[in-house]
Amino acid sequence: MRRIIFKTFIAILLLLLAQLWSAYQYTDQPTPAEYFQLHTPDPESLKLAAFEVLKTHCNTCHITDNPSKVFTLENMNKLAKKIHRQVFFFRRMPKGKERREKITAKEMATLKKWVDLARKK
Ligand code: HEC
Repeated sequence: MRRIIFKTFIAILLLLLAQLWSAYQYTDQPTPAEYFQLHTPDPESLKLAAFEVLKTHCNTCHITDNPSKVFTLENMNKLAKKIHRQVFFFRRMPKGKERREKITAKEMATLKKWVDLARKK
């Protein structure tokens, strides 16, 4: 009996440590205030925030490598389905270095929030 209690205790301790470790690794997660904004966005500023992400992490490359899909405030809604498919379904975009080094979890969350609203329209 004592042994079971001890093992359970160790298991819980390990779980807590794992949680702490992952929280420590993702320091660019949205702060509570930013989360609040992400979950109760007004659509216009959400779109602007998403455009900022597309501009800095997608257009920089598309301008030379895929000029038919340079995102603008005018065309981004129409491309929302494709953006969703490439970024969140197949996870092909952003390509290369941009994915590994630059785009943050916070920016991905912003893009996801916008794209989920936009592609349903
Ligand atoms: C390093 C270069 C690079 C970056 C960064 C990049 N892309 Fe692309 N993207 C490409 C290239 C090249 C193509 C065309 C060839 C292909 O589909 O692989 C493409 C194609 C696409 C397509 C069209 C796919 C289709 O349906 O034909 C979409 C949508 C797209 N990218 C979205 C994005 C988004 C959103 C981001 C940013 C979050 C992004 N890309 C970042 C290079 C890039």
